[in-house]
Formats: sequence, C-alpha cells, structure tokens
Amino acid sequence: MKQLIVEMEQYAQEHNVPIIQKESIAFLMKFIKANNVVNILEIGSGIGYSAILMASSSPLVKVTTIERDEVRYMECLKNVKKCEFDKKVNVVFQDALEVNLSDENKYDLIFIDAAKGQYTKFFEKFKYFLADGGVIITDNLKYHGYVGKSEEIPSKNLRQLVKKIENYIEFLKNNEEYTTKFYDVGDGLSISIKKSENA
Ligand SMILES: C[S@@+](CC[C@H](N)C(=O)[O-])C[C@H]1O[C@@H](n2cnc3c(N)ncnc32)[C@H](O)[C@@H]1O
Repeated sequence: MKQLIVEMEQYAQEHNVPIIQKESIAFLMKFIKANNVVNILEIGSGIGYSAILMASSSPLVKVTTIERDEVRYMECLKNVKKCEFDKKVNVVFQDALEVNLSDENKYDLIFIDAAKGQYTKFFEKFKYFLADGGVIITDNLKYHGYVGKSEEIPSKNLRQLVKKIENYIEFLKNNEEYTTKFYDVGDGLSISIKKSENA
C-alpha cells in the first residue's frame, strides 16, 4: 500500500493531477476513525488517492467515488485493483451533477473535492444522501491563498472561480439547515453538520 501511495503521488505530479494535501488527508483519516465513519461518498476521485487512503482508515469503511474524466477514472480503477480494494471502493464514471443515486444510499461523510465553481450545486444535490448525524466536508476553501482576495486577481477566469468559492463560504455561513466549522488545514477544509430539528 505504501508503495502504491508513493507511485500515485509521483503520477499526480508528473501528469498534473491535483490530489489532496497530506495534512488534509491525515485530518480526514483521523476524523473517520474518531467518528466511526463507515459509508463515504466522494465527489471527484482524481486517480483515487484520497478514496484509497480514506478506505484504508478502517476495515469497515466503504467509499463510493465519482469521476467524470475518463483517463483519471481508468487510472483510479487501476489503483483500486492494485491495492485489492475492489470491495471497499466503488468508482463511478459520470458527471456528479448527473448521477442518480438511490434514495436508500445514505453516507456518514460526503467529501466534496470536484469542480470548485460548482460546490454549492454539489452541496445542494448531495445533502439528501447524508445519514443522520453525517457530515459534508469540503476541500480547497483557501484555494492556494486566493480566497478573500478575489478583487485583486488580474486573471478573469481565476477571479470568477475564486469568487464562486467565496460565495460558497457565504452560503455555508448563512445556511440555516447546517452548522459549518472552517479549519485552517492544508488548502482549507470545512465540516458541515445538519442542525437538529429542535435546535
Ligand atoms: C481535486 S481532483 C480530486 C482529487 C482527489 N479527491 C484526491 O485527493 O485524490 C478533482 C477531480 O474532480 C473531477 N471533477 C470535477 N468536476 C466533476 C464533476 N462535476 N463530476 C465528477 N467529477 C468531477 C475532476 O476531473 C478531477 O479529477
């Protein structure tokens, strides 16, 4: 497993595939163990780096991960096979916004790590699949230090992307259904928990 993880890190670097920062995956794995998380849904598999590490957190953990890029999906499948996690990690090749999940599938943790400009859409779509007491975790909320400084960004595309992340942060802060805590870990993480009905 260790060797595969090193190979995946090298592949990601060589092929310019973004993967979660080490500090953030360590945080996630600790959270998974501490909270006895079993069922995980990940939006944005990349080559399977975070899915495989999350699945390795405990023998009970199962991950469903969604990826829309075919090359990455194939690479992810290959990596899942290599570590014999076929029964622990289910890789879905589709745009997450088009996926039809069965209403019966409920997840203790939903990890949002796909297109940054669509975070609010992912949250609104997948919140219905949270198990009672489950959490939605979002990565890259600092976006390499640009978040909070969008007005100063000369590139229009980057400025618009960062603005979308800033809007998502506002959406989380003002959300009446969920309480969100923000963590200065890696590229910035949030954990959103549904408020109890009586709160
Ligand atoms: C940051 S990478 C994922 C990294 C991965 N979670 C890890 O840490 O190993 C984001 C991935 O999300 C995928 N993606 C972006 N938008 C998507 C969407 N709407 N549906 C499915 N996958 C998407 C991209 O192709 C990319 O591979």
